This record gives sequence, C-alpha cells and structure tokens, in this order.
Amino acid sequence: MAINYSEKIPNNVNLTDDRTLQRALEHWQPKFLQWWQTMGPSDFAGADIYLRTAIGVDAAGWASYGQVRMPDYRWGIFLADGDPARTIGFGDHMGEPAWQQVPGELRSPLRRLIVTQGDTEPASVEQQRLLGHSCPSLYDLRNLFQINVEEGRHLWAMVYLLHAYFGRDGREEAEELLERHSGDADKPRILGTFNEPVTDWLSFFMFTYFTDRDGKYQLKSLAESAFDPLARTMRFMLTEEAHHMFVGETGLSRVIKRALEVMAELGTDDAMAVRNAGAIDLPTFQRYLNFWFSSSLDLFGSEVSSNAASSFATGLKGRPDEAQYDDHRCLDVAFELAQPDPGRGIRTESIPLRNAMNEVLRTSYVRDCELGLKRWNRQLERAGTGQRLALPSPRFHRTIGVWAGVPCDPGGAIIDESEYRRREGEWLPTAADRAFVKSLMQRVVAPGKMAGWIGAPERGINNLPIEYEYVRL
Ligand SMILES: [Fe+2]
Ligand SMILES: [Fe+2]
Repeated sequence: MAINYSEKIPNNVNLTDDRTLQRALEHWQPKFLQWWQTMGPSDFAGADIYLRTAIGVDAAGWASYGQVRMPDYRWGIFLADGDPARTIGFGDHMGEPAWQQVPGELRSPLRRLIVTQGDTEPASVEQQRLLGHSCPSLYDLRNLFQINVEEGRHLWAMVYLLHAYFGRDGREEAEELLERHSGDADKPRILGTFNEPVTDWLSFFMFTYFTDRDGKYQLKSLAESAFDPLARTMRFMLTEEAHHMFVGETGLSRVIKRALEVMAELGTDDAMAVRNAGAIDLPTFQRYLNFWFSSSLDLFGSEVSSNAASSFATGLKGRPDEAQYDDHRCLDVAFELAQPDPGRGIRTESIPLRNAMNEVLRTSYVRDCELGLKRWNRQLERAGTGQRLALPSPRFHRTIGVWAGVPCDPGGAIIDESEYRRREGEWLPTAADRAFVKSLMQRVVAPGKMAGWIGAPERGINNLPIEYEYVRL
C-alpha cells in the first residue's frame, strides 16, 4: 500500500478511514514535535540535511533522498504489507490465523512489550542529542541525524499501535513515552542501557553496533508475533534499523583503520604513542567494547524468565528467524543453563526451554556480534599487527540475570571481588579513558574532511562522493 504524504500524518494504514484514531494521533503529533525540539538534536534545526525518507514499504524503492530540515521531516506510520493468510508460527497457537486484534487476556502483557520497545526509540535520540556539536565529519553528522529521525519514526510506529489497539490505556502510555527521559533521576527510561550517556562518538558507534543490534533482535522476535499489526510494524522498522548497524560497524572499523595508520606511521603498537598522535588505541577501543557489549547483553533480561515463557507460549514474541528452527512449540524440551554456584564454581541446570527464551535470543545476538569482530580482526591481521579484539564472556560485567554482580574476568572465570576491583580499569573505560576520548571530539565540518581519530568511509551515501556537503549548516 502506498504512503500518503498529502495527509498531516503520512501513513499507509488508511488513517482517514478512522477519524477518531486520526484525531487522537493528530493530538499527539504537536507533543511529539515539542519533544523533538527540546529533547532531540541540540541545534541544527535550520540545517539542510541529506536524509532519506520512506516513500513506499516494498524492498525495491522505499527510500527517497533529499535535503530536509529535521523539524520538517515527515514522521509517519508505515507497516509492511500484510499477508491475509498468515498463520501463527510458534507457541500454543501455532498454525491458527494471526490476530488482527488483541485478545482480551493478552492486552496487558502485549502493551508492556510495545511500551518497553517504544521507550528505547526516543531514549536513544535523547542520549545522542549533543553529539552533533563534536561530529568528526559532515558524513557522520548526516548519519547521526538519519538515525535520530528514524528512531523518532520508530516511536511513531509504536505510538500508532498503542493508539489503534489499546484505547485510553494506550493513549496514556503514548504520553508517558514523551515524559520519561534518558538519565532523568525522577523519570528515567525503562531499560538501563538507554540511560547511559552517549556523549562521545566512540560510544555512539559502540551503541549503534551493540545496542541497536539488541534492537534488531528484539524487533526480529516481535516480527514473529501472532499480533499481525505488530509483526508488520517490526518488519518495516527492521529495514531502517539495518542502516543504524551499518553506521556502527563501519564507524568502528574506521576508528581501527585510523589507529592502524598511526601505528604504521610511527612504527609502533604502543598505546600511549597512538594516543599521543591523536588516534584511539586498541586497548581503549577494547574497553569501550567491553562496556557496551556487556551493557547491551543485560537488555535481553534474565536467563530464566516466566515472562519470556508465557510470551512464547501465547504467541506474543517468538525467536528471531523462527522459521529456521524445527520445533516451534518447545514443549518438554530442556535447556542447559550454566550459572554460578554459591561455592564459586559453575553448575549447569536443566530448565524448560520456554523459560530460557531470553537466553536463546541473547545467544543468537552474541553470534551476530561476533561477525563484526571477525571482520575487524581480519583488518588487524592484514595490517600486520599482533593485537586482536575480542568479545568478553557474557558473564563479564553483568547487572541482570544469574551473573549479575558476580566478579568475572573478560574470559568468564569467576575471580575474587578484590581482584576484580583492582583490575577493572584494564577491562572497562576509566575516567582517564573517557577524558582522553572526549578530548578528541573536536568538530570537523569541512566537506570531505575527517577528524584525526577516524578514517574516511569507503564510499559516500547513495553513491554520492565522500566530499558531498551532506549537511548544509
Ligand atoms: Fe529504533
Ligand atoms: Fe536503531
């Protein structure tokens, strides 16, 4: 279905057919714009930015590029095309027709899932709001804003579901999505990682690599939902999300590229020498990686979860790429879960697979994260350095689940609390690391120029040259 841009709220859900819903969303729209003005990117409202906007939801040509001012971006409601014959692909209702309405008894858990996902979208915009001031290039500045407007659109996607299917409760939740703020002492965002400040670009690239990838796995599992409007919403959001992870992966690879250039110029791998030359040394890179990876792992929730089991049983939330599994019911199947033993050993316990769904998701997420590590390590190998990057063990630095607060080294061995304290600075960013990274964050806005700590991208956006003026300030 084509997107109608002549309406106040662009959409492909025939909003004009439902006046009450349309009015309710038009009532929410100025509040969203107000939120964008106060909590969205600081400054840059008058800049022309080379942004892509969705014009259709089919894979062939949904993106149209052009110079847009962010406040004029057309945030709208876009669902992937539906399949009227779609059936539920997992859980107790496997094989039954997908739902077009919310079953009464599932209203509250489904609303909670949507609100929790929805809350992350504006949260990330808030976390990133000051980054524009220290952009390493116009190319990067444009990518940041592209991500920001799309996260804003993801909020619209979730607010549409709340308004359209959850009545007054849904409208109230939609208001609260604009009232909680990242890092706010009184009304923080729901999930921990989304309250972490993202005030430097190394953190931004780590966030878009690791935390947006958590988003990808959440969206993929909700794309399996028996509630068809949610599944269709997710399928379209995933096409946008892919760009966010591209920014993370290529951004991090460019940081490594620059470090390698400096190491080659200086003829040394020494971290301090790399730093003194104004690039980010690999040990610092690794500490940032350890932080963002472990923080993002927490987003999947506890290893053992009766909520996860019932979301799977009832059909609300499946596994990413559910079709790749043979067994979609997962009844009477055990999952072997390794967990810390009070005697400081590790014991394995059999738990029902349905209760381990968070862990199943987390495991596929970790595998996906490893792909980037493989590529970066090939980059290091080609450059002839002996240094390598690695994902820490999922037991390391956890605050949620069975490993929460258990002192582990990045290899996953349980160690003494005192040793952990002593060595923490080897494994996680220190205040000095943060101050150093911050010191590099000087704004570069000459077209085609890059800050000294990051390499140039391989190509520009939409086949344009890297020198293109992606943001007209
Ligand atoms: Fe998003
Ligand atoms: Fe994202």
